[in-house]
This record gives sequence, structure tokens and C-alpha cells, in this order.
Amino acid sequence: MDDQSRYHPKPRTILAQALGAGDPTTHALVPPVHMSTTFLRDADNGYHKGFVYGRTDNATVHQVEAIIAALEHAADAMLFASGMAAATSVFLALDKPTHIVASQVQYWGFREWLVEVGRYGHSVTFVDTSDLDAVAAAVRPGETGIFWIETPSNPLWSLTDIAAIAAIAHAAGALLCVDSTVSTPIITRPIDFGADIVVHSATKYLNGHSDVIAGAIAAAKDGPLWENIQKLRGQLGAIAGPFEAWLLMRGLRTLDVRVREQSRVAAWLAERLSTHPAVAAVLYPGLKTHPGHAIAVRQMDGLFGGMLSLRMKAGEQAAVKVASKVEIWRRATSLGGVESLIEHRASIEGEGTPCPPDLLRLSTGLEEPDDLLADLFRAFG
Ligand SMILES: Cc1ncc(COP(=O)(O)O)c(C=O)c1O
Repeated sequence: MDDQSRYHPKPRTILAQALGAGDPTTHALVPPVHMSTTFLRDADNGYHKGFVYGRTDNATVHQVEAIIAALEHAADAMLFASGMAAATSVFLALDKPTHIVASQVQYWGFREWLVEVGRYGHSVTFVDTSDLDAVAAAVRPGETGIFWIETPSNPLWSLTDIAAIAAIAHAAGALLCVDSTVSTPIITRPIDFGADIVVHSATKYLNGHSDVIAGAIAAAKDGPLWENIQKLRGQLGAIAGPFEAWLLMRGLRTLDVRVREQSRVAAWLAERLSTHPAVAAVLYPGLKTHPGHAIAVRQMDGLFGGMLSLRMKAGEQAAVKVASKVEIWRRATSLGGVESLIEHRASIEGEGTPCPPDLLRLSTGLEEPDDLLADLFRAFG
């Protein structure tokens, strides 16, 4: 069957059954964790099952990779020990010095790494990727090889038009990589909009229970860069551990229902918080007032994700005070888990952050929405 006619089962179907993963030996519905680090050679000195050593390959990891590739409509996927390991591998695997065009506002930890990418021979230009003229102007013909965007991006939830950036990237002979951690494949599948590589911190929504650090990349097609990344992952030992992969597979089974509910509650909270007198602005792509709303409608599947931010009218101290007074929202970094998290983001990003000091980042969990709203209203008090 060619690509056009291939039927893609809906994510919910793929996920609930973990793409049919099980145990052929016992017919167990839930697959075992493959913990072995090494594998028997066949008598003819071959490895006919395809597994040699755990630093390069693992059957539990493969099962999760197959699920992620199916969700992302990708040719292949690779699981890493963290989102940072996944993201950095793309650049460490480039075989020549490359100019990168990257989103100005994005996950702070990765932006910090990109700022120092010169030590690996590459260079980077940060631009506002919602401004297509600025993106086009940042291209260095013959040198620009990678466009790196995060959409919606931390912590302002700015939108970048994936299809428009893919067109600019491809015209320049470059690849487009999208950090889609916040959208998840339930809401956006960047490859359908022309992206070449999709990156996830699987630590967040994909796992969803704040108990696994992992990362993933999915590629629209195989090629020399993909092979380099595979080789590098084996050399560095950056593969996810088998138990983490197994937990991730368990978490993935409920990804669809979690993301739908978290998005529904975030939208409900955003509406109610935006009229509170203590709040100067609510940043949420689902709000019509959000500058990226039109793009969000085009490339997010009618859901706008579980992340929102508040800017407090009374400034930084008021924001810190709200975070210290809440009793149900948990004061912690990270996002995408079943428990709602609140964070004064500028405090963790530190000096030089583009994050406004009056901003609180909220990751909506699965608690009763009324409790979440009442807790914030009490803390605004
Ligand atoms: C959007 C985004 N991308 C990547 C990462 C890095 O992922 P990890 O912490 O799994 O290394 C994070 C972590 O906070 C993130 O929020």
C-alpha cells in the first residue's frame, strides 16, 4: 500500500493497546520488561534475533518506539534517556559545521545548550519564529542546515506555523525539527505539516506520571542524519533504560484521555482566570485573544493543551506569593503529569531569562477543576 492509502488508526486505538505489544511466549497481554544487557550468539556466530547488547538495542525500547512512530506518522522513532539527550543528539550527529535557526523563546534548558553550540562547531541565530520575515532573513544560504522550533513554546505558549517554517527550511535545503512536547501527537503531528524531525521530552505528557525521565525523536524519513543519530545513541549509551521504557509504555496507554481532559480543564481555567482583577493576562493558545490563536486553530486538533501562564497585575512579588500560598497546586518544575503544578518560572530560569518576572506557569493535571480554580482564587486573596 502506498503512503496515501495507508490507514492510520486513531491515536486512542494505538495507545490503549500499546500497538498490540504483548508476550509471544506466554501470550501475556502486558509485555514483560526486557532487562537483559546481553544476548546469546547463535551457533553459526550470528545474532539472528537482531539483539546484541543493551547499549544499542532493547526490545522494550523498540515497542515504545513503534508506538511513537505510529502516533507521529513517522518512518521511525528513537527513545533516549532524556528529552535533552534526544534533542542534543540531533546536533551532535551533524557531520559538518551547521548554522541553526532557532526559536527565541523555548524550553530554557535547551536554549542554554544551543547558546553554547559553538563548542561543537555549529552556530545559531535565535529569532521570533512567529515572524516569518525574520525567519527568512536569518537564513544563511549554503550554511543553514537546521531550523529548530518549539510550539507552543515555554513559557509564553507562543505559536509557530509549522507548515510555513517547513517551506522556508526546505527552500534553504535545511531540515525542520519541532519540539512538540507540549502539544503531544494527540493535538499536533508536525510531520503532517512538513516537519522532518519531531522531538519530545517523554518525561512530560507521553509518560504523564512524573516518574520517568525519557526523550524521543521521530523522523519523517530515514537518511544519513538518522543513521548518525542511531550510531551516536549507541556510542554514548543515551538509550532509555528498559524499565523506564516499560513505565513509559504504561503511561502512554492513557495519553489520549489525559491530554483531552487536561486541555479541557486548562481552557476552562484560562477563561475564568482571565477576568480576575489580580490577573493582568492569561497566556493560553485556546483564548481568542492569544496572538497565536489562528495558527493554533490550524495546527492543533481542536485542543490547545494543558499548559497556561498567568501574568500577575501586582508584579513579581505577587506571583511568588501566589505560588507560596496555593494548597492544591504543587509547587514544582516540569509539566504534563496528572498532578497540577505551579511555578514562578523566572526563578528557575535565572539571570538573562526572557521570561517576564510576573509570570506563573501552570501545568494542569487531573484534579477536580473547581478545586484548582478555588485554590488559585484563595491564593490571589
Ligand atoms: C519543551 C521541553 N523540551 C525538552 C525538555 C527536556 O526534557 P528532559 O527534562 O526530559 O531532558 C523539557 C524539559 O523540561 C521541555 O519542557
